[in-house]
Amino acid sequence: MDDTLKLHVDIMDYKHDEFLEILSEVQSCNEDEFIPLFEKMIEHTREHFNAEEEIMRTYDFYDRRDHFLEHENLLNEMEYFYTKSIKIPNFGRSYVNEYAYEKFKRHILNIDSQLAMFLKNNSIA
Ligand SMILES: [Fe+2]
Ligand SMILES: [Fe+2]
Repeated sequence: MDDTLKLHVDIMDYKHDEFLEILSEVQSCNEDEFIPLFEKMIEHTREHFNAEEEIMRTYDFYDRRDHFLEHENLLNEMEYFYTKSIKIPNFGRSYVNEYAYEKFKRHILNIDSQLAMFLKNNSIA
């Protein structure tokens, strides 16, 4: 993963690395693999978000409402493109190739980074 995306919180960096691997698989796969890999990416994102939400609940993170909301929006958007791409594959392809990375990067830099800082400041990570 690009160093600028590293948060230095192992559990978070690990999930983000995994996501990037799956994303690059979806970006470069052939037609037959596209839907199953897109599904895998959604499944992974759900797990990744659940893991962060569990941490936020456990340590009573002050800004968790906004973070939860942002997760919900990202996941809803991913599911929307997934559903569309079952009928129109190019729809999903353009999301995966042109938007998904940017969305992900923005979430890490603007939102996940605040959680990472909180965990570090409280000596949790
Ligand atoms: Fe994350
Ligand atoms: Fe997050």
